[in-house]
Amino acid sequence: MCDPDGLSRGEEHEELFGGRFPEPARKAVFEAIYRRRDVRRFRNREIAPRVLRRVLNAAHHAPSVGFMQPWNFIVIRSVATRRRVKELFERERQAAACFYDEPRRSQYLSLKLEGILEAPLNLCITCDPTRGGEVLGRNSMPETDVYSTCLAVENLWLAARAEGLGVGWVSILKTAWLREILAIPPHVIPVAYLCMGFPERFEQEPLLQTEDWRHRRPLESAIMSEQWQLPTLPYPNPID
Ligand SMILES: Cc1cc2nc3c(=O)[nH]c(=O)nc-3n(C[C@H](O)[C@H](O)[C@H](O)COP(=O)(O)O)c2cc1C
Repeated sequence: MCDPDGLSRGEEHEELFGGRFPEPARKAVFEAIYRRRDVRRFRNREIAPRVLRRVLNAAHHAPSVGFMQPWNFIVIRSVATRRRVKELFERERQAAACFYDEPRRSQYLSLKLEGILEAPLNLCITCDPTRGGEVLGRNSMPETDVYSTCLAVENLWLAARAEGLGVGWVSILKTAWLREILAIPPHVIPVAYLCMGFPERFEQEPLLQTEDWRHRRPLESAIMSEQWQLPTLPYPNPID
């Protein structure tokens, strides 16, 4: 039997005793996921230290291979440093433009793809592949250190959204130069360069979709059944 919220007795029991989250909390998790956006336009407002700490702590609670915790968070406020990163971005942005033909090239160059100087702070999330010596579960897939670091980025992105903070990922940067600017040792990988602050607004959909650059694939085109397969139409839904 289901109650008006669609929960069976068993589910209700679960909700009360540590299974499914109570309804507002469950909804909030999905809200954070669906309402997260890559943000490139920021308001001129500082982030309170306790809020920054909460968001960094959420990142620090990401899963990691063998509990390796390979990440570090470089918090960058210096305008001089950010100017250098912005110059790096500009160089790379121009260089990448040659990969597109017109009219796509002009469209690419018109897109706002960073908020390095507008945001009150930037973050570089790094991965140290040497952290923790012999790491349980990492022998066969050494790249799981970087995967773990990306999960810290996603945790941070979602926690920031819950705090009303926007995050934008800037990957149009040459790693070697970024390393030099931030004095990152050669063995450490700068995985994510992020701009963070209060956004002008959270858009309803990705900018690249609004600008007709690329659209979200239908979920059905991403799901396969049992083995890798070419999409067939009409697509059978394996979760039914
Ligand atoms: C690894 C990675 C690198 C990205 N690099 C950039 C970037 O350099 N500039 C930018 O504007 N957005 C960048 N993005 C943001 C994506 O464009 C964005 O996530 C995507 O268009 C979907 O939009 P949404 O995040 O608002 O849902 C990056 C995202 C990821 C995950």
